[in-house]
Amino acid sequence: MFEHLKEQPADKILMLMQMYREDPRDRKIDLGVGVYKNAEGVTPIMRAIKAAEHQWWGEETTKAYTGLAGDPAFSDAMIGLVLGDAVSRDKVAAVATPGGTGAVRQAFELVKMANSKARVHVSDPTWPNHLSILKHLGIGTVPYRYFDETTCAVDFAGMMEDLERVDEGDVVLLHGCCHNPTGANLNLTQFKAVIELLNAKGALPMIDIAYQGFGDGLDADAQATREVAANCPETLIAASCSKNFGIYRERTGLLMAVSQDASKQKVAQGNLAYLNRQNYSFPPDHGARLVTMVLTDDALRADWQAELEEVRKNMLALREQLAGELQRLTGSDRFGFIAEHRGMFSRLGLAPEIVETLRKDHGIYMVGDSRINIAGLNKDTVPVLARAIVEAGG
Ligand code: LMR
Repeated sequence: MFEHLKEQPADKILMLMQMYREDPRDRKIDLGVGVYKNAEGVTPIMRAIKAAEHQWWGEETTKAYTGLAGDPAFSDAMIGLVLGDAVSRDKVAAVATPGGTGAVRQAFELVKMANSKARVHVSDPTWPNHLSILKHLGIGTVPYRYFDETTCAVDFAGMMEDLERVDEGDVVLLHGCCHNPTGANLNLTQFKAVIELLNAKGALPMIDIAYQGFGDGLDADAQATREVAANCPETLIAASCSKNFGIYRERTGLLMAVSQDASKQKVAQGNLAYLNRQNYSFPPDHGARLVTMVLTDDALRADWQAELEEVRKNMLALREQLAGELQRLTGSDRFGFIAEHRGMFSRLGLAPEIVETLRKDHGIYMVGDSRINIAGLNKDTVPVLARAIVEAGG
């Protein structure tokens, strides 16, 4: 049977990760996969997570199953973190999922179950795995303009023009903050215009929020998501704990289905639990447990927020340093957008040949579309990258 299998295309981000690992050069720089690294190049376990883990080791008395939706305390804590008091709890159905990707996958499956004709409109570009999962599920996608390659900012006029083509019952995928891969984001006024358009069309917004706390702060980064959830009849939200809690390999995420009509909550909850059962039965608990402990304990939460702020500010400082360095070397503001972008990524607008030269000649690894992970830099490697970009003709 296996002889009928076809080779699958390699995931570009994960392939780059492998190439970097295999590169024997000492001075190589990894700006590929979206994993936070401190100045020493280490992805640390956050202090509050480590403390919760110690505590849980003493307290845990059983490894028996939780519920199909995960522990309701995790849902409550995460709904609070993402939605604040924008919508009342009785309007939200939620299930724990293996990471943000698990939430994205379950959300698309729910869309397919509810409306097999729904198309999903995606920003051009978007996280490649969105497209890959949608293709795998046989869901049609429609790209909408998002990124202006010349200014490296959002092409909002183009986006709105393209969203005019949305049909009733379609889904529009939006990034809640820290757009991946571009780093260019809508402001709140623009989000409000999108909400109005989608409501007029009868389309459903789906928000992928994987970097809350990495842009302008925990609440600021959730503002758009809250605005959508409060003002659209129905919203799907896929949230990840991988980055802001630094628990990548624990696979911790939450899928929320919000409906202004609270009577739909029960059927949505039942369907989400059903999907968990079909795909992997019970969601993983360890990461979700740690997140719940951190969010519900005042001291742990304060320490986590303080550390997350340090992480966020480190990335902002690196952005400013890189924009400044490139300004100095090129004598132009061409790369000024790097300081304006938010989150872990910036798409630099470099041609594929330059990206390749940077990898081959300088050992600098970035995704082929010139997306860099800002956190892969430190203050000593910023000038190295800036010089290499200029030398490569970028
Ligand atoms: C990324 O975009 O690099 C991250 O979201 C990690 C991944 O799984 O691709």
